Amino acid sequence: MVFKDDFVMKDKIEEIRTEAEDELSEARNEGEVEKIRIQYLGKKGRLTSVLKNLKDLPKEERPLIGNLSNKLKKELETKISDAVQTFVQKQREDKFSKERVDVTLPGRCLPLGSKHPISQVTEKVVEIFSYLGFSLAEGPEVELDYYNFEALNIPKHHPARDMHDTFYISDEVLLRTHTSPVQIRVMEKQSPPVRIICMGKVYRRDSDVSHTPMFHQVEGLLVDEKISFGNLKGVLTVFIHKMFSPDTLVRFRPSFFPFTEPSAEVDIQCVMCGGEGCRVCGHTGWLEILGAGMVNPAVFRMVGYDTEKVTGFAFGMGIERIAMLKFGIDDIRLFFENDVRFLNQF
Ligand code: DAH
Repeated sequence: MVFKDDFVMKDKIEEIRTEAEDELSEARNEGEVEKIRIQYLGKKGRLTSVLKNLKDLPKEERPLIGNLSNKLKKELETKISDAVQTFVQKQREDKFSKERVDVTLPGRCLPLGSKHPISQVTEKVVEIFSYLGFSLAEGPEVELDYYNFEALNIPKHHPARDMHDTFYISDEVLLRTHTSPVQIRVMEKQSPPVRIICMGKVYRRDSDVSHTPMFHQVEGLLVDEKISFGNLKGVLTVFIHKMFSPDTLVRFRPSFFPFTEPSAEVDIQCVMCGGEGCRVCGHTGWLEILGAGMVNPAVFRMVGYDTEKVTGFAFGMGIERIAMLKFGIDDIRLFFENDVRFLNQF
């Protein structure tokens, strides 16, 4: 048996279905879907009202209409949760595609640094003298007047002190002006033979294109029986040939240092002009690179060495000067400005 209300109610349910489905198909986000859910399945929703009003229908109609409404309710619930699912999924995909990491991209290289030219030259000097059998010694940068001057045969008021523009900390304490005091410290502790080099920072009150208040020196000392000026020339010539090039001309020129006798300054053929004469070598064709000499017996007596038994030679040079000549740098201050554009070239 079919009742009149059946048709009305069936139509109404169908209408709810069509409209709900249309609206769902147009929903653009989770919020809109939720609105639709409330509109149809919420407490005062259209389908909920139908179910609530079942009791007002004639008893005979209730099962069919109830059945249809419940079926639609289930269907709508499924469709709504599917729609929510779709939006959640889409949101997740959007998020992933925005935050996506492409693991196949090549890594970004960190810029690589290079060794400072002063370190490069220092290492090369150590390498050459290690090859010649010298070992490394060290001494303090804050030094006593005694080691920096007195024990090196430079008494107070000696004119040679003028060359050193010293930074004094007190009457007896200063910043070492050269690495020569390490000679004394080593000889005080060790009896001959001695064969050391020492590298380090030294300080002088001086600043221009070729002077900085702090710079680096290498000191060498060799003491043994029967050491002659010939040995000194041999060792320094090997050093220069390995540091610059095997055909660099070397010249020993008489000079004066209180701690050596005789003393010499060593020149190399100008690396810029090859000896022709240029601005760098002052048109002489030669460049001074180090000071050297036979250890003054007065120095040996200060450390208690037997001057009848041993002789020795010593030498000292500035690392910056060597680096400037080796790399063709014309301003010493560039070494300490730490401008990467300059440093990158080495
Ligand atoms: N100490 C000297 C200076 O700073 C350099 C020097 C010259 C060191 C002769 C020596 C040497 O050992 O024998 O100017």
